[in-house]
Amino acid sequence: MSELLTTEKQLLANLKEVKKAPKKKFYIETLGCQMNVADSELIIAMLNDEGFIKSNSPQNSDLIFINTCSIREKAEEKVYSQLGRWDKLKKYKPELIIGVLGCMAQNIKQDILENKPFVDIVLGPDSYRKLPDIINRSISDKKSIVDTKLSRYEVYEGLFPKRKGGVNAWISIMRGCDKFCTFCIVPFTRGRERSRSIDSIVTEAEDAVNNGYRELTLLGQNVNSFKYDNYKFHDLLEIISQISGVDRIRYTSPHPQDISDQLLEIMRKYDNICNYIHLPLQSGSDRILKRMHRSYTKDEFLILAKKIRQILPGVGISTDIIVGFPGETEKDFLETISVMEDVKFDSAFNFKYSPRIGTKASEYEDQILEPIKQKRLEKVINLQKKHSILRNQKLIGSIQKVLVEKQSKMSPDHWAGRTDSNKWVIFGKGKAKLNEMVNVSILDSKGVSLKGKLVNEVKSA
Ligand code: SAH
Ligand code: SF4
Ligand code: F3S
Repeated sequence: MSELLTTEKQLLANLKEVKKAPKKKFYIETLGCQMNVADSELIIAMLNDEGFIKSNSPQNSDLIFINTCSIREKAEEKVYSQLGRWDKLKKYKPELIIGVLGCMAQNIKQDILENKPFVDIVLGPDSYRKLPDIINRSISDKKSIVDTKLSRYEVYEGLFPKRKGGVNAWISIMRGCDKFCTFCIVPFTRGRERSRSIDSIVTEAEDAVNNGYRELTLLGQNVNSFKYDNYKFHDLLEIISQISGVDRIRYTSPHPQDISDQLLEIMRKYDNICNYIHLPLQSGSDRILKRMHRSYTKDEFLILAKKIRQILPGVGISTDIIVGFPGETEKDFLETISVMEDVKFDSAFNFKYSPRIGTKASEYEDQILEPIKQKRLEKVINLQKKHSILRNQKLIGSIQKVLVEKQSKMSPDHWAGRTDSNKWVIFGKGKAKLNEMVNVSILDSKGVSLKGKLVNEVKSA
């Protein structure tokens, strides 16, 4: 009896200790695309629910995570150099828990098990639900825990993100990719394509609006492949556009193959769907496009771009271009230049091909030498600069609706915000406030951004 009492007393004392114990702090660094940003927001929400507190510095934290990207070698190098710094930090603070999350988890797990004993947790993009549990195990076991299994179903239904504020809320609507472009690691790091239910997306969108977010960006590795029951991407877009209080809707990243006529019609019909499309070209050569396993030809791409500009006047079109894909000759490269000349994209993300282990293109024998890649990259960057300026100049003299997003980096007296067509505009603050939709008269085009002057505020609906 007295033994039992002692045990109970001990239990109570332990419980009190646990209650008194300071809450553990975590730090999370996010690399890669917006999908990773959205995933980190989910992770933050999950850890907050478990009583962990987010911190802004690794030095002051008990747990530190890096949400990683594998898309190009440079992205992976960043992770390795950060892990090098964290290894040193752990020498001063041996109880620190270090976690590697996200797209690199698959590739890095062997290396970590063999060479990086200071890493405690490795979790792939479909395993985040297990994180709180794994943290607790890791604290008590002190053994590395690895879970990189990919799921055919995980869409994090029922989990909602902790956003950091601002005007835009990322809403992830589908995950994974089934397209297997031969250069791309994403189908291997993120697994098969799957979509979230309409109901849960709508709930999250309504919630974001109620929390003051004015812009929603729907996310997916192939966002317009979204399919749930009989609903396609354009159906979802229409449903979201009718939620009251949604001032702006954007989406990324779409694939040209899935840009349907219905999608363009819905974009034309609803004012709150932004007049902007990211249309990744990758290459303008039919031979290279085929080797990349992209599903369109140069002509099909050009016809699509033309149709987009016809149906959506004033639309902003951006693109992704890869130079130096294996076997790319000077003639192939000039085909890419010719598409650029023809479409005159509003902006472009240009990359040198980076071989990714496990992808088909990394095994092609006709890899291109670095200096050639570099020269081609410089050419596309310079040409794009010209086209961006040309497109931006067309807006001089017009009045644009701009959502005030942040203070300009150039001056504390200026705001920065984007137009409907996704162009940054810098203008004097006047009476405008953050998060407000304002009318700005465009005065000048400074490189890639526009300079403007506040006209008068547009009241939100
Ligand atoms: N799903 C989107 C792209 C997602 S990845 C689409 O299909 O368009 C973002 C961009 O990274 C790609 O469009 C491509 O231009 C670039 N990229 C992907 N793998 C790459 C690699 N191995 N080397 C260089 N750039 C790459
Ligand atoms: Fe990668 Fe996009 Fe191709 Fe999918 S469609 S394999 S994400 S480039
Ligand atoms: Fe990188 Fe993964 Fe996104 S590889 S680009 S973080 S899907």
